[in-house]
Amino acid sequence: MNTLAAHLNELNLGDWSEHINFLSTQKLAIKHGDLPRWRQALSKLPTVNNYQVNLSDEVKLTTHEQLDTKQLEQTLQTLCPWRKGPFHLFGIDIDSEWQSNLKWQRLAKHINLTDKRILDVGCGNGYYGFRMLGSGAKSVIGIEPNLLFYHQFLAFKHYLNDLPIWILPLTLEQINPPTIGFDTVFSMGVLYHRSDPIGHLQNLRAFMTEQSELVLETLIIDGDENSVLMPKDRYAQMRNVWFIPSILMLEIWLKRVGFKNIRLVDISTTSTTEQRVTNWMQFQSLADFLHPHNHNLTIENLPAPKRAIFLANK
Ligand SMILES: C[S@@+](CC[C@H](N)C(=O)[O-])C[C@H]1O[C@@H](n2cnc3c(N)ncnc32)[C@H](O)[C@@H]1O
Repeated sequence: MNTLAAHLNELNLGDWSEHINFLSTQKLAIKHGDLPRWRQALSKLPTVNNYQVNLSDEVKLTTHEQLDTKQLEQTLQTLCPWRKGPFHLFGIDIDSEWQSNLKWQRLAKHINLTDKRILDVGCGNGYYGFRMLGSGAKSVIGIEPNLLFYHQFLAFKHYLNDLPIWILPLTLEQINPPTIGFDTVFSMGVLYHRSDPIGHLQNLRAFMTEQSELVLETLIIDGDENSVLMPKDRYAQMRNVWFIPSILMLEIWLKRVGFKNIRLVDISTTSTTEQRVTNWMQFQSLADFLHPHNHNLTIENLPAPKRAIFLANK
C-alpha cells in the first residue's frame, strides 16, 4: 500500500512523518458536530471492483459495474457544499461552485510537474492535487484545515488509495518544514486570507529548496507599486480578506522575502461562469457578491475580483 509514512520513509523523512502524524491525529480527534455525518457518508460509498481513472483532462472515475447511483448521489450530497471541482464519480457529475478546471487550464501550460514532489497549501478538496498527478507529478501533499473539504477528498481517496496523494488536515503555520524541501510549492487562493501575508510567503519559502518553484495565485488590484487594498470590512461578502496588492506591490513582497526569477504568467477577471451557484453549492455565489449595476465592482463598491498567477524560485 502506498502510505504517506512509507513515501516519507523512502525520503528519509521519518521524523517529519511522525510530526505531521501527531498533529493530524490530534486535529481529527476534535469534537466537530458534522464529523459523524461525514464519516457515515464515507462508509456508505459503494464497493466497486473495476474502474478506470482519468486525471489528465478531468477528475473522472468510470465503471461498467451496476451501482445504485441514486444512493451514491445522496451520499455525495451529504458532503455539500462542493466548492472546487468538477468531479465525476461513477456517473455522478459533481458540478461544484468553481469550475476549477478553468484555472488549471490557465496555469498548467506554464509549469512542468513531471516527477515533482509537490506541496499544495490550502488545497481545498484536492481537485488540483489530482490534476497535478494527471500532469505527471511524483507525489502531492496537500494542506487543508477545513474538515469538510478534507472529507470530500477522502471520498475520492477511497477509490484512489494507491495514488501518491495525501491531505494533512492542518494549517501551514502548524507544520515545521521537513529537512528536504518540495520541488514545487503551490499557494492558490490563500494569500489574501492571511492577516500576515509576508509571513505566509516566508513560510512557503521555508518548504522549498534552491531549485524549487513557487506557484502563487491570489487576488490583485489595479495600481502602482504603492497600491494595496485592505477592505474596511467584507470583500465580495467574504469576512476574512486582509490584503489585496497590485501586481507591482506583490512583486516587491516576493523580492523582499527573497524570491528570485519572479514571473507573472496570468491575469484574469473572475467571471460568473467560473464561480456560480449549482445543485452542489446552493448558497450565494459571485453574481450575488458583485455590484448589481456595475460588475467591475463588488457589492461593497470595491474593485471586482481579479486574480494573478506568479511563478518564482527560492
Ligand atoms: C479560496 S480557497 C482556495 C482553494 C484552492 N487552492 C483553489 O485555488 O481553488 C483557500 C483555502 O485555503 C485554506 N486555508 C486557509 N488558511 C490556511 C492556512 N493557514 N493553511 C493552509 N490552508 C489554509 C482554506 O481552508 C481554503 O480551503
